[in-house]
Amino acid sequence: MIKPHGADALSPLLVTDAQEHARLSAEAENLPSLLLSSAASANAVMLGGGYFTPLSGFMNLADALSVAEKMHTVDGLFWPVPVLNLTSDTSLVEGVDRIALRDPNIDGKPVVAVMDVEAVETISPAQKDAITEQVYGTLDSSHPGVAVFQAEGNQCVSGPIQVLNLSYFETDFAGTFKTAVEIREDIAARGWETVVAFQTRNPMHLAHEELCRMAMERLNADGVAIHMLLGKLKAGDIPASVRDACIRKMVDVYFPENSVLVSGYGFDMLYAGPREAVLHAVFRQNMGATHLIVGRDHAGVGDFYGPFDAQEIFERIPAGSMDIEIFAADHTAWSKKLNKVVMMREAPDHSPDDYVFLSGTKVREMLGDGIAPPAEFSRPEVAQILMDHYRAEAG
Ligand code: ADX
Repeated sequence: MIKPHGADALSPLLVTDAQEHARLSAEAENLPSLLLSSAASANAVMLGGGYFTPLSGFMNLADALSVAEKMHTVDGLFWPVPVLNLTSDTSLVEGVDRIALRDPNIDGKPVVAVMDVEAVETISPAQKDAITEQVYGTLDSSHPGVAVFQAEGNQCVSGPIQVLNLSYFETDFAGTFKTAVEIREDIAARGWETVVAFQTRNPMHLAHEELCRMAMERLNADGVAIHMLLGKLKAGDIPASVRDACIRKMVDVYFPENSVLVSGYGFDMLYAGPREAVLHAVFRQNMGATHLIVGRDHAGVGDFYGPFDAQEIFERIPAGSMDIEIFAADHTAWSKKLNKVVMMREAPDHSPDDYVFLSGTKVREMLGDGIAPPAEFSRPEVAQILMDHYRAEAG
């Protein structure tokens, strides 16, 4: 099986030993508390589940600056996006060496992790802007990821953590949320060797389904791991429970049994395009995938990135930085001439009119009006779930 990133074994930071867990929980109640941002809490969940192997906690300022600028830590570990715990709480002064990290996303703000505080550093406005530009490619505050990052505090609290739970993901998405440890075990139990991961934050339409099928066939893969984002999204995106239902229905009806592993991970969407694509690759390697599909405008938003920027970044990464490989896909759409979904670069004789194209806005409008998109765009079973969702939303 493919090795985890930068290590021989996964390092999930979730404490699973019952005695140790009880001891840490009791200790945490008497420690000074820091209320995390949602982004930092999601980082803790990723660290807890082993997805961020081999990191042992939150990065300090020097590592964050190095990762943002050069995609490696000060010690040379390849890593594409800083893993930060930012706060505006300045009550944490030197001398506090152990703190409880509290979860902003659960009522009562329970402790999600405990931390050995190694440093509390101030990020200057210039440093924050540099990180923003390097990671998101823009300082434009209309970019949803930039807006979230810039609104975070300027105190960087770093150090190793021990994770006590996996926030709301385990309860709200039981059966779908999985740790990297669990997915590795599942892949091993199925005996899969070549495994293609499909990242998604959307309900899957026919073009996405066919993309998975094309990748499986061309790589002669044993299976595809559809791995959906379960954390926070920008306003207007479709809730995870609805996407989950759509994906499961599609897999049940249209894929051979035991060819697809459906699961999700607890992370807030960054919309960081190319950099996020690289992070996606790192944590898919950690969960045991040998390949990651990177298609059109992967992890993008609006017009902030070119349609294939998220593929091109992989060409600039030094060889040997990761073991996972990319399945770079061209724009896929239904060809009226060939009566199937194709990659556009493979149909050079086609003109735009030869494809069924529907913008996201158009599809939302149709579904909201109770009109199913054509079968060339969406499976009827998936369209039905989405129409029910929009009808319920409209009240
Ligand atoms: S993402 O933000 O999670 O990347 P999304 O769920 O829309 O968004 O896309 C999942 C994957 O499918 C990404 O790799 C994306 O590049 C790819 N993709 C989505 N639509 C198309 C398409 N029409 N053609 C090619 N690739 C696509």
